[in-house]
Amino acid sequence: MAVNLKGRSFLTLMDFTPTEIRYLLDLAQDLKEHKRTGTIHQVLKGKTIVLLFEKTSTRTRCAFEVAAMEEGAGVTFLDSGSSQMGKKESLEDTAKVLGRFYDGIEYRGYDQKAVEDLAKFSGVPVWNGLTDVDHPTQILADLMTIEEHVAKPLNKVKVVFSGDIRNNMSYAWMYGCAKMGMHYVAYGPEELASEIKQDVLEKVHAVAEETGARIEISSDPECLKGADVIYADVWASMGEEAEIPERVRLLTPFRVTKELMASTGNPDCLFMHCLPSFHDFETKMAKTAMENGYDIREVTDEVFRSRHSKVFEEAENRLHTIKAVLVATIG
Ligand code: CP
Ligand code: NVA
Repeated sequence: MAVNLKGRSFLTLMDFTPTEIRYLLDLAQDLKEHKRTGTIHQVLKGKTIVLLFEKTSTRTRCAFEVAAMEEGAGVTFLDSGSSQMGKKESLEDTAKVLGRFYDGIEYRGYDQKAVEDLAKFSGVPVWNGLTDVDHPTQILADLMTIEEHVAKPLNKVKVVFSGDIRNNMSYAWMYGCAKMGMHYVAYGPEELASEIKQDVLEKVHAVAEETGARIEISSDPECLKGADVIYADVWASMGEEAEIPERVRLLTPFRVTKELMASTGNPDCLFMHCLPSFHDFETKMAKTAMENGYDIREVTDEVFRSRHSKVFEEAENRLHTIKAVLVATIG
């Protein structure tokens, strides 16, 4: 049966079947090709979308804006300082207003319930641009990048996430890998493993039973063996900056180094990262933390700049995959 995602929200990959995710990945590849060959079809002409950001962003915001603009749609950007939402107006009322103006709403913020409520009350498709527990558009870009650089079908690919295994990216990976029948290992300290939400694990294990995926949690470096991808993210996510001292203590052994990459035993293992990344001291945060005695780099500059690293290919694919989500749901 043909896949039809018109009118659907994109809140989490858990709401999509493997076939629907496959459809989005194939569509993203087509749209990437259209851009490369100068044959963009402008299928969103006459549409308008609004982007709500309660946390900062470079890639997600720009990918939504460029994707919409290239396909002919108009875009409004609102950050937390420039709308009434949450301060003078409830999320429900805001959703009801925006749903009458726009064809779709992107939201980045804290609670997953916020994207769910926006979808419930606006009556238009809502796209999750990152919450505390998920980042589904990032995973689409990551899967696309893996397909471009690993000569294996996704259900033969092993991804090891090294670091803060209880953050939004780690959960998003669990969902993506469960759906696509992949092997996912959350590699991090036991202290953080014990914080992983049990309901998430139950959900992903249930999906994994149907798809043949393997979802594991480990603090044993043996789990690195045979990885096709080592994935990293910052050790303290947006809003968690106070955790830096404790995270540095817990996560320093999980920093992605040349040695960690070598212990996969795979000379072609990829290094991937959603970005932004602390890989040197060229940022205010990394520099200030270091002055206070905390080395917050989750990956060495050597690995980040090595031939293994596909981080900028991945960043580019945010555009093509977000465009696919827009085209599929409101095109
Ligand atoms: N990867 C990602 O979501 O990047 P931004 O925070 O810049 O949007
Ligand atoms: N875990 C990170 C991801 C950024 C794209 C954060 O939430 O800050």
